Amino acid sequence: MLRSKVLGCGAYLPEKVLTNQELAETVDTNNNWIVERTGITKRHIAANNELTSDLAVAAARRAIAHAKVEVEEIDLLILATSTPDNTFPATATKVQSTLGIRHGAAFDIQAVCAGFIYALSVADNFLRSGQAKTALIIGAETYSRILDWEDRSTCVLFGDGAGAIIMQACPLELNANDVGVLAVKLRADGRHYDALHVDGGVSSTQTAGYLRMQGKEVYRHAVVNLTNIATEVLKDAGIEAVDIDWLVPHQANLRIMKAVADRLEIPQTKMIVTVDQHANTSSASIPLALNIAIEDGRIKAGSLVLLEAIGGGFVWGSALIRW
Ligand code: ACO
Repeated sequence: MLRSKVLGCGAYLPEKVLTNQELAETVDTNNNWIVERTGITKRHIAANNELTSDLAVAAARRAIAHAKVEVEEIDLLILATSTPDNTFPATATKVQSTLGIRHGAAFDIQAVCAGFIYALSVADNFLRSGQAKTALIIGAETYSRILDWEDRSTCVLFGDGAGAIIMQACPLELNANDVGVLAVKLRADGRHYDALHVDGGVSSTQTAGYLRMQGKEVYRHAVVNLTNIATEVLKDAGIEAVDIDWLVPHQANLRIMKAVADRLEIPQTKMIVTVDQHANTSSASIPLALNIAIEDGRIKAGSLVLLEAIGGGFVWGSALIRW
């Protein structure tokens, strides 16, 4: 039996930082409103010539170096993104080519803010079934390109960035301290398609469109669905919430993150928070948060880490990993 183990992590943020104060100069908002409602103080914005694939490659290179694997070993590349370079081919193929990977499979996954957990779950299945040995999983986004910068209810919430992990198939050890992905669950409920969507697309308008959101609706579903799915994952793995070392939520909004942690009875001191610095980077937010917590030593070998995320669709998921 095989289990997938995380070997390394890397991240990349564009150089340009946009603070709440700077944003308030161009749109009718203010720092207090944004901080009180979301916890966000600033976000990174990709340069005009920087594409999602560029962010993805930069994060991937750091993850590969951190994991100490050779690019030749990577036989599966999954890129979670809802802001691809082009409608097709998959941005993953451009990333694969730039990294010099010449074999295996590469494809994009579109699960919006839950993209990283969806990608992780797909990779976990490839690795456990023996269909791949070493996977590169990336979340990369340039949401600045699909924001309506005149809509204050959405443009203050998002940022650009990328994060990546390397996972490898390892023989399963049958004890409670097993390292690797212990449980994953994915869900979708397309009845809420319109609650958070982009008002354009190839087949509908032949334009990229802009992000539109019913904020209160998203908030309400996020808290309930995330709490339920994380509870199911813990139950599947036979782990109690009290044993979790670190909760790494999708970084959408600090209020949602705290409400879910409270309902799971996980103390907020065990929650990794980057939304204040990065805003919502969609599929990149979890690997960006993981990277910071690994770099500063909070997440280390043996740490039990619970991930949860929800995005437009709605689609949502949770994963439990022992580092
Ligand atoms: N600055 C100042 N005022 C604003 C802004 C802004 N940026 N945006 C909205 N307002 C105003 C509104 O116009 C409204 O004014 P009114 O009362 O005069 O009509 C007032 O603030 C309250 O607006 P609400 O939309 O009711 O504010 P709410 O408390 O619901 O907070 C928010 C809005 C932060 C979007 C909240 O609904 C939320 O967090 N929703 C979750 C959505 C989310 O996090 N999405 C991320 C993507 S999805 C995901 O990743 C899970």
